[in-house]
Amino acid sequence: MRSFLGIELPNPVADHLAEIAERCPTGRSVPAENLHLTLCFLDDVPHETLEGLNETLAALRQPAFSFRIDGLGVFGGRTPRALYAGVPPIAALSDLNKRVRSKARSVGIALDHKQFVPHITLVRFRRGTEETAEFQRYVAAHAGLTLGPVDVTSFTLFASHLGKGGAHYEALARYPLE
Ligand code: 2AM
Repeated sequence: MRSFLGIELPNPVADHLAEIAERCPTGRSVPAENLHLTLCFLDDVPHETLEGLNETLAALRQPAFSFRIDGLGVFGGRTPRALYAGVPPIAALSDLNKRVRSKARSVGIALDHKQFVPHITLVRFRRGTEETAEFQRYVAAHAGLTLGPVDVTSFTLFASHLGKGGAHYEALARYPLE
């Protein structure tokens, strides 16, 4: 099952970000209900492995924390792949990322080695999309975005179902933070 660990956003924050995403002149905006902060992408994981992961995550004791959302960023530069809301790094978030990665590895899930860049993807672009002046103006107009603090009292194991209309994320389990 294609799956990942992420942090869900409270409605007012998700709605606000979804409104900004919808104003983007190009690309496919992420609907409010799909907006999240990815903690760890797990990719395709056998069902039994997910059960093992679920058990070990349920035993994890990590503190609750809050984060801020600050500015917009683009992955891919001149040929944008994704537009995201930035999340300035904080120790509690990178600790949680490290802990869940180590738990995922402990049950045999192979993870990539990409550096953890906390972000919330707002818009995805088709391959080959070129940056336009209109897009640059839009990004500049929202550069001052700040939201939060967003309280994080749990994280979530999601299944990602890919379909024609985009991905649908299903919360399989939630793990409270202390
Ligand atoms: P994102 O966090 O940058 O949007 C579910 O697919 C989530 O896992 C998405 O939010 C996605 O990117 C993140 N993710 C990380 N690595 C991925 C990969 N190799 N393929 C698909 N999604 C990935």
